[in-house]
Amino acid sequence: MADPLLPPGVADLTAFAVPSGIVPTVPGVLAGAAPTAPVAPRGSAPTWPGTAPQVGDLGWRAAPVSAPEGDAANYYFLSGPAVVREPVPQIPDSHEVFDVNAVRADFPILRETVNGKPLIWFDNAATTQKPQAVIDRLAHFYAHENSNIHRAAHELAARATDAYEDARDTVRRFINASKSEQVIFARGTTEAINLVAYAWGGKHLGPGDEIVITHLEHHANIVPWQLLSQKTGAVLKVAPVDDAGNLLLGAFEDLLGPRTKLVAATHVSNALGTVTPVHKIVELGHRYGARVLIDGAQSIPHIPIDVQALGADFFVFSGHKIFGPTGIGVLYGTEEALEETPPWQGGGNMIADVTLERALYQGIPNKFEAGTGNIADAVGLGEALRYVEKVGIERIAAYEHALLEYATPLLGDIPGVRLVGTAEEKASVLSFVLAGHEPLEVGKALNSEGIAVRAGHHCAQPILRRLGLEATVRPSFAFYNTYDEIDVFIRAVRRIAEGG
Ligand code: ALA
Repeated sequence: MADPLLPPGVADLTAFAVPSGIVPTVPGVLAGAAPTAPVAPRGSAPTWPGTAPQVGDLGWRAAPVSAPEGDAANYYFLSGPAVVREPVPQIPDSHEVFDVNAVRADFPILRETVNGKPLIWFDNAATTQKPQAVIDRLAHFYAHENSNIHRAAHELAARATDAYEDARDTVRRFINASKSEQVIFARGTTEAINLVAYAWGGKHLGPGDEIVITHLEHHANIVPWQLLSQKTGAVLKVAPVDDAGNLLLGAFEDLLGPRTKLVAATHVSNALGTVTPVHKIVELGHRYGARVLIDGAQSIPHIPIDVQALGADFFVFSGHKIFGPTGIGVLYGTEEALEETPPWQGGGNMIADVTLERALYQGIPNKFEAGTGNIADAVGLGEALRYVEKVGIERIAAYEHALLEYATPLLGDIPGVRLVGTAEEKASVLSFVLAGHEPLEVGKALNSEGIAVRAGHHCAQPILRRLGLEATVRPSFAFYNTYDEIDVFIRAVRRIAEGG
């Protein structure tokens, strides 16, 4: 009998296995011997011994192909591990420093000038810049691989499908999920949270059930729950913070109870930089029988993530916050949580079989990926994560922490500056207001010096209002920023404060 999943006249998918395309191997920005110096004090960043970064040289090479095995029916075309990658180099001591100048050379936009000054990109919490490897990977996809995926018997479909599924597996490795099927590609953090709210929440929440969030949340982790509460009659509860922006864990636990069905909390506050105690949040949520979603939009580029150790039911993040393209992000879920989540959008790719009376769905992850997705940008995200793996996320975290520790007292010492968000644990963000100057005015004055910061409410109005504010100025750091850039920034704020 003809298989309903096959194109007309095709009896056996495995007959269509063709040599798969060309895959990238990116020389590591950190290729060469392991570093020997500790985190460098300002002005003395050591250089890596060994190979300098090779911007633009992606080392493309053909990959051997293995024949499809077993699950060919999951896709119209391919299965099997067709993509071969260079192993990610293991660098022994994760707290040693990297060569910031070598890293900067990988980001072409950092050579831009703005208003005649070298660009200082301190708006990393809004979006990060892209390394040449990611830019080249996108161009290569469109030049050599572009096709729709999972649904054609031709070479380019094989290349595109391989590249897309390889990116999914790279995400799996990066967050240490146990299976790549637990990685769902979405448009970003916002779409991933909305997916959970509409699909999981729509099925599992009813009148009087409770959702607990924190006062630190971005609007993307507030509004979907408000909409869901309006639709289902569920009640939204908010855990408070202290004046420094620390989550009050005791008060959070007091909100949990037998009606709590879902906890949704940020890992790092985008407005204040507070790092929340996510392991404790997950443990407490589970103790009360709730599912727990962690918003990793701001933590993913700064903190090593191990979703198995974390134990959250859902973990979400955006590609563009971690040096990948915009318009692509990830919903990770445990198999149990994803299996109990119904599809949220219907269409192609998510179905196994359709008649005019009913549809049978694919399993995870395809069940949640209706329609033609953002294929190239998923591939770009995979490349961004490989880049971060080569630099080393622990090394990145240590360096950025040193930048924040350096900048915080210098900024706080400027007359008229109020630091906004001084939690015990912080990552990347240094929000502040300056007496006598509107945040927007400070942002514009900094822009005239080539310094990009965000000034406004940061899509997190509730936490700013909790601290008596409508807006702040928000520099936010990434691992390509330098102590010298912080010095330029501090001098500029001082001049603004002095009316210069
Ligand atoms: N959520 C992004 C920010 O914090 C846009 O700026």
